[in-house]
Amino acid sequence: MYAIRPARPADLPAVVALVVRLQADSAHHVGYHGVTQAQVAEELGGFAPDWASGAVLAVDGDDQPCGVLSVDADPVVGRGWLHGPFVDVPADHPAARQCWHNAADELLEHAMAVPRLAGIGDLELYGHRLNRRLGDFAARHGFTTCGTSRVFTLTGDDLRPVLVSAVDDADTTRPLGTDEETRQRVIDLHERCFPNRSVTGEQLVDGARGHTVVVATGATGLLGYAAGFVQQEELYVDYVAVDPEMRAAGTGRGLVRALLRKLAADHGVRPQAAAVISLGNDASERMFTALGFDLHLELVGYRLTR
Ligand SMILES: CC(C)(COP(=O)(O)OP(=O)(O)OC[C@H]1O[C@@H](n2cnc3c(N)ncnc32)[C@H](O)[C@@H]1OP(=O)(O)O)[C@@H](O)C(=O)NCCC(=O)NCCS
Repeated sequence: MYAIRPARPADLPAVVALVVRLQADSAHHVGYHGVTQAQVAEELGGFAPDWASGAVLAVDGDDQPCGVLSVDADPVVGRGWLHGPFVDVPADHPAARQCWHNAADELLEHAMAVPRLAGIGDLELYGHRLNRRLGDFAARHGFTTCGTSRVFTLTGDDLRPVLVSAVDDADTTRPLGTDEETRQRVIDLHERCFPNRSVTGEQLVDGARGHTVVVATGATGLLGYAAGFVQQEELYVDYVAVDPEMRAAGTGRGLVRALLRKLAADHGVRPQAAAVISLGNDASERMFTALGFDLHLELVGYRLTR
């Protein structure tokens, strides 16, 4: 039904429009992307070294993009992230499901050959819990389900008090800074708490993936850290970890508050803050909900090690 070809930079506006259209439907939603035109454009624009050389398209007879699979990869952590596949099949097509799978399979076959996946042994897909075609596609291609995660958000009127509240975390929290020992302790805590991390401790403290890091310290040294970044419409909390001996005393939520304030102070306030929490991480869920975050959506990750 569709022909497959490599993406070109000039395809980007049409692909952004396609992804935004499909992201609005839970049955097509992919976890790596937001839902607005600005979010999707920013996400695809952030691929290194560029978007087009890592993307393949399914096009119709007029060469219009009707499907896309975009590949992001990090050789340092040895992992690749498959953004999609997105395939737009007319709802009244008599074999819509089969067409989706045929196009998705062809997109995957071509995407696996893009140079940025050379030497990458670990691949991930990430979709809405209701994106059942993605689940079937993942299973057929040997991906294993690696857990459900929940996106929590804090928006508008609920975010403002967290950014300006009278609570003073300044005694214990501060930006990471240049102290070598503190940086090394953040690296150690990060590697201990997130063995399956997609950003290494060194990348985190060096800001190599664009993170801002805040730390909490006490008499015993490092209590914990929080790391995140800004997107056009979001303050994103990517990692929070507290020394196991020091938990359940409010340090985690102080770190999240301090991080959100730092991100907003450095880059300007955004309409929402967001965090992704693994299903079953009750302490983290408690920490975010105590700050006012609400469940926004549930996503499922799929992983293939080759
Ligand atoms: C999640 C984490 C950062 C929380 O740090 P913290 O300093 O304990 O955070 P807070 O004290 O601000 O809040 C934690 C809340 O969870 C509660 N809690 C702790 N363990 C819990 C559990 N097993 N089940 C339910 N609630 C739990 C605490 O009592 C506290 O709630 P309370 O203040 O209402 O009593 C910490 O547990 C951690 O480092 N975990 C490992 C890394 C991780 O999973 N990070 C989150 C990734 S999104």
